[in-house]
Amino acid sequence: MFRKIGFPVRGDYRGNLIAIEGETDIPFEIKRVYYIFATQSDVVRGLHAHSSLQQVLICVNGSCRILVDDAERREEFLLDTPSSGLLISSGVWREMKDFSKDAVLLVLASEHYDESDYIRDYEDFLEKFRK
Ligand code: TYD
Repeated sequence: MFRKIGFPVRGDYRGNLIAIEGETDIPFEIKRVYYIFATQSDVVRGLHAHSSLQQVLICVNGSCRILVDDAERREEFLLDTPSSGLLISSGVWREMKDFSKDAVLLVLASEHYDESDYIRDYEDFLEKFRK
């Protein structure tokens, strides 16, 4: 499953602020945060799915495109605002691309880093998650 999530902007005359709380604004407890930046525009990142990890991707500066594939349908999302994110549940193949020079992609994750949770072969992914 994947879907866009909007976050309310708490703006005033000083500027804007967005707060994201685990289990309230997104459907999981946040155990890890990482961010991707200074990625070349011709580079494709990701190219994997996860067995159990859930993530929310937010492009807090600049823009990038995320291709998601749940073994039934493929969709591409443009992330170009800090006020919305893309929720990606387990069992979804993802590719991150078309990073702008100034792109900073923030990722909120439901688990600590665990290499054994990665599925890096697309055929293995289809075999495991095909409906
Ligand atoms: P990688 O999974 O290749 O990034 P992407 O999915 O964006 O293509 O991660 C790059 C490197 O960072 C790799 O050596 C693993 C390491 N890494 C961590 O140590 N902790 C993490 O939470 C993540 C996401 C990656």
